Amino acid sequence: MSRGLFITFEGIDGCGKSTQIKLLSDHLGSTGHEVVLLREPGGTVVGEKIRSVLLDKKNDGMDPVCELLLFEAARAQIVRELIMPALDDGKIVICDRFFDSTYAYQGYARELGAEMVKALNLTATSGLEPDITFLLDIDPDEALKRRGIRGDGDDRMEALGTGFQQKVRQGYLELAASFDRVFKVNASGTREEIFSAIRDKTESVLRERS
Ligand code: TYD
Repeated sequence: MSRGLFITFEGIDGCGKSTQIKLLSDHLGSTGHEVVLLREPGGTVVGEKIRSVLLDKKNDGMDPVCELLLFEAARAQIVRELIMPALDDGKIVICDRFFDSTYAYQGYARELGAEMVKALNLTATSGLEPDITFLLDIDPDEALKRRGIRGDGDDRMEALGTGFQQKVRQGYLELAASFDRVFKVNASGTREEIFSAIRDKTESVLRERS
């Protein structure tokens, strides 16, 4: 059986990933594909415990390197426990965030640098890379308005505010300019416009592989 397809979704907090992931997963399911939906950090029992440490607002003294290592620790677990086996079974894996988040948040916005992140990503993933990465690009202030919430955020990362999210967005735009697998979608469009770009791209990649 051929290796499955690995799709990741990326973007700043509140960019609308969840809605689009649901639409794509329903669409692929209805056309006969077996889809596995996962999220980072988390997805495994160990990873969900690490997630709660990472996102707990009480941990506001967490050192950025500690933060980076925890994201990578959760990633090492989900890659080996769930993602690789599902791909080996020929399934389509859709992951809400993957290693590009670490480049954008820890490497770029936290200013730990791309080299440190690259080395740890490689250790955590054993070289596994997504086949397609959808970057849902939107201005942080617009994302916040759309969600209609306060600016101080629901968790420790969101509490860093829109100045931090602007840097994250910039980090993502640099990734999109550097890697062909990253497909940038204008996330300020309507739900249907965004989804049709995502569906068309996914179908064209599936056609190329068949
Ligand atoms: P989550 O509630 O899943 O956010 P969202 O719904 O926006 O995806 O929280 C995950 C948070 O962790 C989010 O702020 C992005 C951040 N993050 C990193 O900083 N580095 C990483 O490597 C990953 C995977 C996530």
